[in-house]
Amino acid sequence: MLPYQMRTFDGYLDAYRRSMEDPDAFWADVAGHFNWHRKWDFVSRSDFDNAQFSWFGGAMLNITENCLDRHLEDKGNDIALCWEPNDPAKAVRKLSYRELHREVCRAAEMLRWQGICKGDRVCIYMGMVPELVIAMLACARIGAIHSVIFGGFSAQSIADRVEDAGARHLICCDGAFRGAKEIALKDIVDDALVRCPAVANVIVFRHTGCPVRMLEGRDHWWHEVMLNVDDQEALQHPAESVDSEDPLFILYTSGSTGKPKGVVHTCGGYMVYTAYSFANVFQYQPGQIHFCTADIGWVTGHSYIVYGPLCIGATSLMFEGVPTWPDAGRFWHVVDRHRVDILYTAPTAIRSLMSFGEGPLEGKDLSSLKVIGSVGEPINEEAWQWYHDQVGKGRCPVVDTWWQTETGGILISTLAGVTPQKPSFATLPLPGIFPVLLNERGQEVTALHENGYLCMAASWPGIIRTTYGNHERCRAAYFNQFPGYYFTGDGAYRDENGYYRITGRIDDVLNVSGHRLGTAEIENAINEHPEIVESAVVGFPHDIKGQGIYAYVVHTPDIAQPDALRNEINETIARFIGPFARADKIQFVSGLPKTRSGKIMRRILRKIAEGETQQMGDVTTLLDPGVVEEIALNRL
Ligand code: PRX
Repeated sequence: MLPYQMRTFDGYLDAYRRSMEDPDAFWADVAGHFNWHRKWDFVSRSDFDNAQFSWFGGAMLNITENCLDRHLEDKGNDIALCWEPNDPAKAVRKLSYRELHREVCRAAEMLRWQGICKGDRVCIYMGMVPELVIAMLACARIGAIHSVIFGGFSAQSIADRVEDAGARHLICCDGAFRGAKEIALKDIVDDALVRCPAVANVIVFRHTGCPVRMLEGRDHWWHEVMLNVDDQEALQHPAESVDSEDPLFILYTSGSTGKPKGVVHTCGGYMVYTAYSFANVFQYQPGQIHFCTADIGWVTGHSYIVYGPLCIGATSLMFEGVPTWPDAGRFWHVVDRHRVDILYTAPTAIRSLMSFGEGPLEGKDLSSLKVIGSVGEPINEEAWQWYHDQVGKGRCPVVDTWWQTETGGILISTLAGVTPQKPSFATLPLPGIFPVLLNERGQEVTALHENGYLCMAASWPGIIRTTYGNHERCRAAYFNQFPGYYFTGDGAYRDENGYYRITGRIDDVLNVSGHRLGTAEIENAINEHPEIVESAVVGFPHDIKGQGIYAYVVHTPDIAQPDALRNEINETIARFIGPFARADKIQFVSGLPKTRSGKIMRRILRKIAEGETQQMGDVTTLLDPGVVEEIALNRL
């Protein structure tokens, strides 16, 4: 048991009280259980007005020594990473702590050979293979900043991210397997890099064996550049000593503007927070197998496949495939095959599997499961109950974990078996986390069951440090609306026990199958189509995806084939963002409801998309109220 693991509800209350009375002492206690090259001069400094936060100031460390080296003596032969391939007939790969350490040291040495230095940004576009984890940790080992790009993003999205990060290095795979599909990742990278002449170095890991073009001088095979590495030298090369506040990674996420933000996390605070939250929320015990089904292209994979579990010496299972291939029993097969103790997945996956009924669960032994978790969007009661009854067999605590890319780790969640659970409630904050609900005027909402804007009244070690290359954007997005608070962009209310229920985004951000997408981003993509005049995108409730994408589109006159245009619009979205951002519904309209100042009245469009065609509220401020009637009448 870890010294900072709370094991009883009283222990939780006591820790919460201590974190309130003396937050710095509380976090210093937790941070004392990690390896630092140099101890901190101060624990924390927060300046909310300027969005400046430091944790463990002046301390020096290398996060990979905490993830790997320090486990070698006691757990060198324990499995660190267990890889379940897309095709269940192919071989599972298991890397012990000693093996993972060795591979990371070798890859770090290879990156040094490639001229990559501390502070350089390295974009990674690999799909779910163990070498992705090795590449991330190798970057961290030498103090380079990784920016993992989700494998579903298009060439344009890759180019935008590579450029924004000013990256000159990229690591990718030849291809990736996803269910029955094989995706030619390197071809997509080639398309992207036409737009990024600054990228001088591409390292390609061979995974699927599909044919790829290699650009002389720029592209190198991973296995070939690895030949330069002398294993002994690699193992002896010390890990780079970095400042606690040096960036560890950039991860792009959507906000309410059209351009994704590069969320920056730094080394010391992120390490402490992911390990602390992982140990407490999931109540991880030595020897257990933790299976987080997320893709490492999103923050959940960063924090709860890679850094959190490895920091505490856990066995982390990563899965290359999809939940419904070769059949809808795949997750259950993985749980059974590996005797998984902790399963952490998303409501969209739960709802999708639920739609296949109990058949796929039959014959699968899920008795190893101890804790089951959910993340990414509000989980509806029906899905919670099914997960609890059918998967957890009524005996596993369900942890509904609320957090964001910007928060680094879980902030509000049941601690499995330690604090109470309640269907579709994230419940209580972790010790050290101080949520408040505010109304538009910035006053605290104290009434029960009343919705407010979810904010944090104090900083925590995993808080976002900046948006890469544009600090003002970070300040304006999260610290401006309510001075003195971090603003999450989510709405929430509290019940009589003080449990939080998250009600969803209150800004123009959609959550589609757990993918976070700005409506403005989708609109920008649609508007790239030459026959589109303008568009407005809103979300609507979707049984499986949580939210679906509803696009209202104005096209140029004389379109002969509306269905063909719909397909083209979706292809345009796929080209500019990625296939996962395709619209579920595209309604052609003659105009959009706008105020006299030209602002689109999204409230009305949301209502129509949700099926409300009668009670539109006040439409008198609209430039052309008639357009609303037309839109409502032709609703899809
Ligand atoms: O709206 C909240 C929702 O997902 C958003 C964060 O998305 P992202 O940065 O992509 O990170 C997802 C994984 C941490 C939040 O603003 N969200 C996340 N978890 C929950 C949730 N909504 C309700 N309940 C949750 N457990």
